[in-house]
Amino acid sequence: MKKLAITITATLSIGFSFGQTDAQKVDALLKKMTLEEKVGQMTQVTLAVVAKNGWGNQDGALDPAALKKAIEDYKVGSILNTTAHALDVNIWRNMMTQIQDETKNTRLKIPIIYGLDGIHGQTYTLNSTLFPQSIALAATRDTALAAKAAKITAMELRASGVRWNFAPVLDCGRQQLWSRFPETYGEDVFIGKTMGAAAIKAYEEDGLKNPTAVASCMKHYLGYSAARTGKDRTPAYIPEIELREYYLPQFRAAVKAGASTIMINSGEINGVPVHASKYLLTDVLRKELGFEGLIVTDWEDIKRLHDRHFVASTPEQAVAMAINAGIDMSMVPGDFSFYDLLLEAVKKGDVPMSRVDDAVRRILTLKMKVGLFDNPYPEDVAANFGKPEYQQVALEAAHQAMTLLKNDNKILPLQKNVKVLVEGPSAQSLAALNGCWSYTWQGNQEQHYPADSKTIFQAIAEKVGAGNATTTTAEKDFDNAKNYDTAALRAAAANADVIVLCLGENAYAESPGNTMELALPDNQIALAKVAASTGKPVILVLTEGRPRFITSIEPQMKGILMAYWSGKKTAEAVADVLFGDYNPDGILPFSYERSMGEMVLYDRKPTEDIREIFNENMNKSGYAPLFPFGFGLSYTTFSYSDIQLSTTALSGNTKLTVNITVNNTGSRDGKHTVELYTRQHYASITPCMQRLRAFQKISLKAGESKTVTFTLDKNDLAFVNADLKTVTEPGNFDIMIGDKKTTFNYK
Ligand code: BGC
Repeated sequence: MKKLAITITATLSIGFSFGQTDAQKVDALLKKMTLEEKVGQMTQVTLAVVAKNGWGNQDGALDPAALKKAIEDYKVGSILNTTAHALDVNIWRNMMTQIQDETKNTRLKIPIIYGLDGIHGQTYTLNSTLFPQSIALAATRDTALAAKAAKITAMELRASGVRWNFAPVLDCGRQQLWSRFPETYGEDVFIGKTMGAAAIKAYEEDGLKNPTAVASCMKHYLGYSAARTGKDRTPAYIPEIELREYYLPQFRAAVKAGASTIMINSGEINGVPVHASKYLLTDVLRKELGFEGLIVTDWEDIKRLHDRHFVASTPEQAVAMAINAGIDMSMVPGDFSFYDLLLEAVKKGDVPMSRVDDAVRRILTLKMKVGLFDNPYPEDVAANFGKPEYQQVALEAAHQAMTLLKNDNKILPLQKNVKVLVEGPSAQSLAALNGCWSYTWQGNQEQHYPADSKTIFQAIAEKVGAGNATTTTAEKDFDNAKNYDTAALRAAAANADVIVLCLGENAYAESPGNTMELALPDNQIALAKVAASTGKPVILVLTEGRPRFITSIEPQMKGILMAYWSGKKTAEAVADVLFGDYNPDGILPFSYERSMGEMVLYDRKPTEDIREIFNENMNKSGYAPLFPFGFGLSYTTFSYSDIQLSTTALSGNTKLTVNITVNNTGSRDGKHTVELYTRQHYASITPCMQRLRAFQKISLKAGESKTVTFTLDKNDLAFVNADLKTVTEPGNFDIMIGDKKTTFNYK
């Protein structure tokens, strides 16, 4: 009752009249606002600014004086982030209540919109359900599953009182060194478009007033993932033809899918910081893509126009530059400098009032859309947090992510009566199974993981019985020297039938994850060599966010399972696959390369395939990764019929129906992804060797056949031409599905 009374008071004091549309309410409110109130709305600060002890805060206690200063004096419109680590769901709810209470002391009582990074589940609420990272979800090729994970993330965010999620990441993972590669859907544009749009719809489609939805934030527009050096937030040089072919389509699809907000790339393209690019923010995003929602900066990025990119000679010029380019809200986020500087810039005439009004209108519209003006408080949906069935979805997603890369002489699945030695740094780590954005930003603090989380060692011990599983590794500690003790491994191997060696990467996020080298570190390679030298069969389990080279040890491994960072249920999924309780069906969303000098992607140009010294030595071995894009083994086998086309002469806007029958020819039931690629024979710019144009995942019982139907039209054959137009040119095309290929003509 108390909340209801407060809500009514708030509504009346803002002064909306009955029957007004949301747009009319926003306009009415905007008319009442002072410049200071408007600039405040455009200001976003981090929680540490209003929390007791700032960044050191451990318990979510707010500092009343600091809160008052932010909300009453600086009139901020938005807060984000946590302080040290994730907090209990009730602490979040209390914090949100206190924050909205504080807004009642302001003249117009405009509620705060709070934003968090729910990247693979609700990162910052303790005991939330963590799903596979996007790179692992991409391996599932199951967009409905990606949508289910996003929906649960929305429920757990909203149950925590938060209505704005800074996800999904739509950056295309074409630079494998990049420390945010795990947050991407991999190297392919089509997977990024479809998975990204599925996530956005799941976040938003119930309608944002519904407590099962959150506003999504497509990020990081544009070209963030293409840093030339691979280091986070370093320059990209991207010709516009490439920008439009590989990086823009995901955002175009996301706008169509209804994304409410967008976050901007902290980096620069061709020397222009994206936060200062009126071309990208206004001409392309607003005018060409038709995006109407809110544009928020990334962390401190307006300041950085002055102090890192050096394109603005003063902090005030940086603010004017970004706002005039099209930014609506500044993630300042550690102080109120933006507020003072924008006021100054408007007063000096460096930023027109019309631009401020436009930005504030979008901010208020979002607040209206998520129902904050109806009820700003955490809704009565705490029970939507942590439902047992979410764990099932997490397990299903982790299962489907598992990608079996090698299975020599069918060594897998293992019998459950074998003696297993489980070794390697990720054998007893939770962080190395979950990765970035897991209860902390870096994800590397083991103590914050839910008590019922399992390590790979524990999950294997449950399969074979405690007496049959041993390890010499340290409990929950990736970096402990004990995990790299080759002598201990060699000694322990004497009593084992098989060694499961768990290598890969500990959790990292953003710049701390920068690396100079994609090869696995020497101490891990040494472990693998010693394990192989014992003569016991070694199964390599890789828990990693990006492909780390294993070229030197691969020949000695009898089995290789790519587990990625697959969230809460990674260990269970690994054990289920190793012991045959789950038949693996994940397939790679990237090319697993052999070395830094040979980073050719699957959709390469024909000349990238060519290796020659003289013409007569020419061969086409240029795309020879250790494991190609789309690769993944099963415990059963599948065969394809020939491809049937509805026509071999496609024209205009007509549709092409493609049928293929898949048969499970093995003795186990299994899931299987059918991928359809096209290749144009000749075009006005060099055509790609293959482009993924469609995929479908099916389940087949042993012996069962199913016909899969794809429908294509000319848009599925399009590319960006030299005039930067997306076109389909007439000509012959190959369609390739598995080992089958056929040809048709388009005119
Ligand atoms: C990241 C964003 C994130 C933001 C807020 C930045 O450092 O680049 O992806 O949304 O922090 O946490």
